[in-house]
Amino acid sequence: MSLHYLVTGGAGYIGSHTLIEMLQAGYTPVVLDNFSNSSNKVFDRLKTITGTGIKVIHGDIRDRKLLDDIFAEHDALNTPIQGVIHFAALKAVGDSVKRPLEYYENNVAGTVTLLQAMLAAGVNRIVFSSSATVYGEPEFLPYTESHRIGATNPYGWTKVQVEQILKDTCVAHQEFSAIALRYFNPIGAHESGLIGENPRDIPNNLFPFITQVAVGRLEKLNVFGNDYDTVDGTGVRDYLHVSDLALGHVKAVNYVNESAHSGFTAINLGTGTGTSVLQMVNAFERVNNIKVPYIIQARREGDIASAWANPQLAESLLGWKTTRSIDDMCRDGWNWQSKNPEGY
Ligand code: NAD
Ligand code: WQD
Repeated sequence: MSLHYLVTGGAGYIGSHTLIEMLQAGYTPVVLDNFSNSSNKVFDRLKTITGTGIKVIHGDIRDRKLLDDIFAEHDALNTPIQGVIHFAALKAVGDSVKRPLEYYENNVAGTVTLLQAMLAAGVNRIVFSSSATVYGEPEFLPYTESHRIGATNPYGWTKVQVEQILKDTCVAHQEFSAIALRYFNPIGAHESGLIGENPRDIPNNLFPFITQVAVGRLEKLNVFGNDYDTVDGTGVRDYLHVSDLALGHVKAVNYVNESAHSGFTAINLGTGTGTSVLQMVNAFERVNNIKVPYIIQARREGDIASAWANPQLAESLLGWKTTRSIDDMCRDGWNWQSKNPEGY
């Protein structure tokens, strides 16, 4: 019997890639998504890639009755929900500064409602999409999971607060298992080019901005600062392929199932290597034989110079490490964007 997992936000960038790996691993995902930052068209593409239809519920994690009904229905069908992979959130840093209450209501209050429904239904396992943003300004690099926690924007604080809520839930409910996966910078797309990052508005992040300049949707890339204390003065980050990241979720679910894990555990998901903005631009141009015009601008408010992961815990605990290179990320990301210039 395939284990059923509720995947909140499963229509999104990382969730959709994770669905492929879950199916590949023999799990049965049940998606709950309000399509606030995604399109249900992704599921046609996923059917083409996997040959499998996926159950999708158009709804909101803030809808307690809907959550209760989902858990009850699967109990009645004798396909109980074993756990939750929780992607659903608003994630744009700049937007969170303008609309903090929407972010707290959606990301924090929404997760509280989800957890209440889970506990009421006896669903005691959650894998949560956290972020390296919880580390704030580095005291040391690479970041280990023991690095001080603190955010610099409302979005980041929602991740810090949900991690705390998970810790407190685990103390109150000894049988509860919570894994917080702290993603560094996921980029790229599935090798098929059928799904990829599909931001609704002007991208906030570097890589989708590069691909949209390359495909002609945007005129040029603004490089936010070249006077940092880094290899070439531009910002350094730990970019990982979204398909590697997706597999990390399956490894986390496997780990919880096989080890009878309980309590709260945070785990970095990154390559352990930093790449600068200009190194990324140069790699993208080289791999795809395409120019990406850019202009050096002032630093972006709130940016840190460098960030990269110590990924040793993920390898030792989950048996996971990244396998795809920056070149792979550039190739796969362009394959997606060039085939889907306007997304889907
Ligand atoms: P995304 O916006 O593509 O996906 C999020 C999905 O959640 C979307 O499909 C959206 O419609 C859905 N959603 C949002 N609020 C919802 C709600 N209240 N109810 C139901 N569905 C809801 O984002 P993503 O890049 O796939 O990120 C997934 C998760 O990973 C998020 O929690 C994000 O904060 C986290 N994360 C992302 C990055 C990144 O660089 N992409 C880095 C670190 C952490
Ligand atoms: C990367 C580098 C920029 C855009 C953010 C969120 C984080 C997480 C991942 C959700 C930096 C530079 C960027 C551009 C540029 N998301 N840059 N021109 O800031 O590391 O992390 O996304 O959890 O929470 O903070 O990623 O891609 O925005 O920036 O020069 O147009 O690229 O200065 O050095 P970041 P990013």
